[in-house]
Amino acid sequence: MTRRFLFLTGSTRLDGNTELLARRAADQLPADVERRWIDLARHPLPEFEDLRHDSDHTRPTEGNARLLLDATLAATDIVIASPLYWYTLSTPVKRYLDHWSGWLRTPGLDFKATLAGRTLWGVTALAHEEREVADPLIGALNNSAAYMGMRFGGVLLGNGSKPGDVLRDTEALTRAKTFFAREAPFARFPYEQAEAVTAP
Ligand SMILES: Cc1cc2nc3c(=O)[nH]c(=O)nc-3n(C[C@H](O)[C@H](O)[C@H](O)COP(=O)(O)O)c2cc1C
Repeated sequence: MTRRFLFLTGSTRLDGNTELLARRAADQLPADVERRWIDLARHPLPEFEDLRHDSDHTRPTEGNARLLLDATLAATDIVIASPLYWYTLSTPVKRYLDHWSGWLRTPGLDFKATLAGRTLWGVTALAHEEREVADPLIGALNNSAAYMGMRFGGVLLGNGSKPGDVLRDTEALTRAKTFFAREAPFARFPYEQAEAVTAP
């Protein structure tokens, strides 16, 4: 099956480090892989409203919600390219993921069944030198993939503060070269991984 990569960029500025790094990784994809880029900050979703216990969500028929839902359903691979903001996902990305909760409960969509088995990836840039401060972002994406029954390809991290800095992070650029080449395993919650290690 032809792979269709959806790159969702979540910086609040143009030409940021996260997108630069994501584009370096995307450059390595085979020529027959489809790629689509959508800038979440410039395609803002409405504020998410939790209707779970009131009424059904309805399928969006227009605007950015429809665009992003249709693009999400069509993708075999979803790449969340979010800068590290306060140690986690940026607001445009977080709002997009909140909308998954509505799409999960939209009659006729089969959102979870459609995404199950597909792959979630992450790319992030951060100013901090110690990469483990990005663990909350990595955990949010891993656990979201586990909840959805998706594969998780991990998060490509790069260092930088002002736009362009990440191009001096040679280790990140090296990791970008092979990032999408790996076979992503099914995501597991951390407690499932612990059980797997200790099981006889
Ligand atoms: C609102 C905000 C929050 C940030 N929080 C963090 C943070 O928690 N840890 C960190 O290392 N860098 C943080 N930074 C720095 C950015 O992660 C860094 O500048 C990154 O290169 C931005 O990505 P971009 O160039 O793709 O926009 C923050 C920047 C902003 C604007």
